[in-house]
Amino acid sequence: MTAQQTELRVLPSDLKRELLPKHVAVICDGNGRWARHRGLPRIMGHKRGVESLKQLLRTCNDWGIEALTAYAFSTENWKRPQEEVDFLLTLFQVVLRSELREMMKESVRIKFAGNLNALPTALQEQISDAMEETRNNRGIKFTIATNYGGRQEILSACRAIAEKVEQGLLKPHEIDEATFESHLYTAGIGDPDLLIRTSGEMRISNFLLWQIAYTEIYITDALWPDFDRDEFYRALLSFQKRERRFGKA
Ligand code: IPE
Ligand code: IPE
Ligand code: MG
Repeated sequence: MTAQQTELRVLPSDLKRELLPKHVAVICDGNGRWARHRGLPRIMGHKRGVESLKQLLRTCNDWGIEALTAYAFSTENWKRPQEEVDFLLTLFQVVLRSELREMMKESVRIKFAGNLNALPTALQEQISDAMEETRNNRGIKFTIATNYGGRQEILSACRAIAEKVEQGLLKPHEIDEATFESHLYTAGIGDPDLLIRTSGEMRISNFLLWQIAYTEIYITDALWPDFDRDEFYRALLSFQKRERRFGKA
């Protein structure tokens, strides 16, 4: 490794380790626009978007961030042209296959959040193999929100809880925040401290509705394929200047 590469792997000196977010979530938006600006088909933007995500994962792991959650495919993204949906689903498989070794080497724990049953069977199998294989790793928790929708997640938690009540396993008054959270796709991952959205859009687009109650939000105009280490550094700098109050005076 060159000296410059080693330098990139350490936390920049003006970021305070004790003030780093433990959990970063990211809405990876703007792949299509990135491609359009270059006269390329949208799918080329998705391909480049994978490179941004790989780099962000490595940076988070190097800088000691405990969890990264990335929005890769929403429950509403099925409304896109079939060709684009097929490309994305195939891309997930290709990337999982090609990156699993590297993620094992970096001790990444891979998780998927979303309604996975609706995904192609081959992808479902790859997902469960990847989760199983990386389960005992001790590095960053990397969650990929795939066929994820916040409203749908809340409904499915409600249904699962209602069934337990119906079976007499749980009483209505016992349902508290912890019970509810344990029925979400993100159970055990916790709430993000920082949510980044690229491409300038000021909306949540059905991402982590329950979990972002007190998350700090950072929006950048950078399109996802252009979101590099410097962009991430700027997001962290902004985060470190925030005063998180959680309702206190
Ligand atoms: C985000 O980029 C990737 C996915 C939603 C899968 P977009 O494809 O939404 O890109 P824009 O927003 O059209 O530029
Ligand atoms: C949100 O982006 C979903 C992902 C990044 C996977 P979209 O591009 O689907 O969101 P909208 O449609 O602009 O709100
Ligand atoms: Mg978009």
